[in-house]
Amino acid sequence: MTGRADRPLVILISGTGSNMAAIVRAAQAQRWQARYGARVSLVLSNRPDAAGLVFARAQGIDTAVVRHQDFASREDFDAALAERIDAHRPALVVLAGFMRILTPGFVQRYAGRLVNIHPSLLPAFPGLDTHRRAIEAGCTVAGATVHQVTTELDHGPILAQAVVPVLPGDTPQALAQRVLSQEHRLYPRAIAGWLEAQVAAQPAA
Ligand code: GRF
Repeated sequence: MTGRADRPLVILISGTGSNMAAIVRAAQAQRWQARYGARVSLVLSNRPDAAGLVFARAQGIDTAVVRHQDFASREDFDAALAERIDAHRPALVVLAGFMRILTPGFVQRYAGRLVNIHPSLLPAFPGLDTHRRAIEAGCTVAGATVHQVTTELDHGPILAQAVVPVLPGDTPQALAQRVLSQEHRLYPRAIAGWLEAQVAAQPAA
């Protein structure tokens, strides 16, 4: 569709990376390179033992580790992250289970091209422990949200949501699993939608 446009994606993880893997698989299966000029160019983790790094390497994707413990301040850590990210000139930076709070400077640097997935129906339940909180509140539905990242944690314009039922007797683990399986459909779909809009706005960038 686009010919020469290049829209690298950089994905930040901290752990399992199952959302990252879902995005990589969708990019391959849906031919994002041909359709949008988009490929996953770098998977970056703040933890060297993040399981997702193994998957990314096996896919031939560049990986990098920037350990937050190696930096004296959040600003220094974020500057090191940005240096690694910018080397790939990303069209979109994707937070996928990246468990660090980012500084306002970092967020502003990638304004409009920084997205996150959060395991609740925002604006309900920002922060941690979302599934237990949803069950305890008596919610009958739960879900996940893909949103643009702003300086306020787990806020920002919503790009897409998926809803699942909360079932009688649900444990936080059972609900988390039900939500996560929807995340794996939702996140690739939201990113493809974002790329589609980029192509429409700038067909031969
Ligand atoms: C997901 O539930 C995501 O919504 C949250 O962290 C979890 C990451 O899981 N932000 P994974 O590393 O993608 O498997």
